[in-house]
Amino acid sequence: MTFTIAIDGPAAAGKGTLSRRIAEVYGFHHLDTGLTYRATAKALLDRGLPLDDEAVAADVARSLDLAGLDRSVLSAHAIGEAASKIAVMPSVRRALVEAQRGFAAREPGTVLDGRDIGTVVCPDAPVKLYVTASAEVRARRRYDEIVAGGGAADYGTILEDIRRRDERDMGRADSPLKPADDAHLLDTSEMSIEAAFSAAKLIIDAALKD
Ligand code: CDP
Ligand code: CDP
Repeated sequence: MTFTIAIDGPAAAGKGTLSRRIAEVYGFHHLDTGLTYRATAKALLDRGLPLDDEAVAADVARSLDLAGLDRSVLSAHAIGEAASKIAVMPSVRRALVEAQRGFAAREPGTVLDGRDIGTVVCPDAPVKLYVTASAEVRARRRYDEIVAGGGAADYGTILEDIRRRDERDMGRADSPLKPADDAHLLDTSEMSIEAAFSAAKLIIDAALKD
């Protein structure tokens, strides 16, 4: 039996940073499920296929290879926008959820982060964390990331973008973003990455003992 850690939350809450750290410390496999939506969107864009044809998008989703996912080639803003459009399509979600569940079963343990891991993908995960932070803090983090990378950014535009993304993620009919009933809430607004990891570690270690 494997051990799965489900991490959900809104954009820029710190899910990826926390998941990578947990995977490294516990020796578990990590999947950023946002990349599966992004890679499907990029494949459609690259092939000049429409973003509003559910059957076409689902075909592309079914042929996705999880081994080739790389955030550096999937980070473009346009890919994120396209990903959030196809993420509302039930048959695209079904195809990607199936692949994600296959990943979640790997030994000795897995960490999956996204929007619906604790509620839909791995409802039986022994550890579920819902990582959040205020929209202002999340926008500031994204802003700092872009500026640190040498790019130009406008805080107001990023904040608007974060709010729009939250509305779309929480408002969709299929698998909306929300904490699972049995998720531990982790508000990282005033927490360092280290403090968030320490809080998560207490929860994980307690579950591993059971
Ligand atoms: O994966 P998600 O979009 O939820 O967020 P992330 O990419 O892990 O984190 C967004 C940014 O916030 C990164 O630059 C992190 O270093 C930073 N961060 C932070 O400053 N404090 C935390 N407690 C967590 C993340
Ligand atoms: O762009 P951002 O970093 O906020 O999101 P992401 O984690 O890269 O995910 C890209 C898109 O896929 C977002 O619009 C999410 O709503 C969607 N997604 C989803 O619907 N379910 C997941 N488990 C993960 C991502």
